[in-house]
Amino acid sequence: MSQITTNSTLVNLTRPYAEMVEQKLKDYLSKLNGPSKLVEAMSYAGLGPGKRLRPVLVLMSNEACNGESGPALAAGCAIEMIHAYSLVHDDLPSMDDDNLRRGRPTCHKVYGEAMAILTGDALLTEAFGIMAKEIESAELLKSLINELTEAGGASGMVGGQAADITAEQDGGDAEMLDYIHSHKTGKLIRACCRIGALTAGASKEELQALSDYGEAVGMAFQIIDDLLDLNSSAEVVGKNVGKDNRAGKLTYPSLLGSEAARQKVRSLSEQAEAALEPLGKRGKKLLSLAQMLAERAA
Ligand code: IPE
Ligand code: IPE
Ligand code: MG
Ligand code: MG
Ligand code: MG
Repeated sequence: MSQITTNSTLVNLTRPYAEMVEQKLKDYLSKLNGPSKLVEAMSYAGLGPGKRLRPVLVLMSNEACNGESGPALAAGCAIEMIHAYSLVHDDLPSMDDDNLRRGRPTCHKVYGEAMAILTGDALLTEAFGIMAKEIESAELLKSLINELTEAGGASGMVGGQAADITAEQDGGDAEMLDYIHSHKTGKLIRACCRIGALTAGASKEELQALSDYGEAVGMAFQIIDDLLDLNSSAEVVGKNVGKDNRAGKLTYPSLLGSEAARQKVRSLSEQAEAALEPLGKRGKKLLSLAQMLAERAA
């Protein structure tokens, strides 16, 4: 399959879900009270042309468990806001120091560093706001907050980002690399699938299946991101490439070589596929998504 075919099939599969999310996010962000520059920067970062993979995973996981989309949509928007905040902060001069994101100047290049920090802070905070406003069941809301703090905070994404930065200076072994990838990227992606299941009132077995699927997809996603940084171009991925080696990042290709990294992606894709078995036909879209993500070119 050519790279262009792969990406357009991916877009075709995800578009209906992504459009729902964008509509809702736009709506939420447009109603925010706050200084206009801050709200503008939040929209710039939150609504920029990204893949919307995380909310798509929430919605598809919810659908695979026959759920109603309302709470899943709110949670999906919240996760996209958390993801957007993580990108704004990841790009800051004190972190990865990047000036291109989603084919456009990074948030701090447009709005300045202080405003970019605050944009990230506000996106993170409002993520919990949208859930509190939109999710009626207190019990469900509590379980989603637990999932998101566990996946996004010190024991999740922020922990992984801290380890990523530390490893730039200190280096690390395969165990450290596994920790970094599963935490900075894997945990939030896994949480998307779990949250999709939880918003559908899924059985224990379904929750476990989606959790295992998300874990494998999340790890594969970051390894491919590392490979694209080596082999792709800024025109295709919308961010500068070759930056991981320059920064001395601990990545799969740098530690194990590109072929071993590709092999790891193949084996994770098989794990994702196997995890979906308990869902039978209901896992079909998620299966296609995992296959397309494994071949993605952007
Ligand atoms: C980029 O995530 C950061 C990683 C975790 C690799 P995405 O590749 O999902 O970024 P967008 O949302 O499509 O821009
Ligand atoms: C970022 O990983 C993961 C986040 C939690 C934001 P990268 O630093 O590799 O992401 P890109 O390549 O800048 O998108
Ligand atoms: Mg980074
Ligand atoms: Mg980065
Ligand atoms: Mg990267």
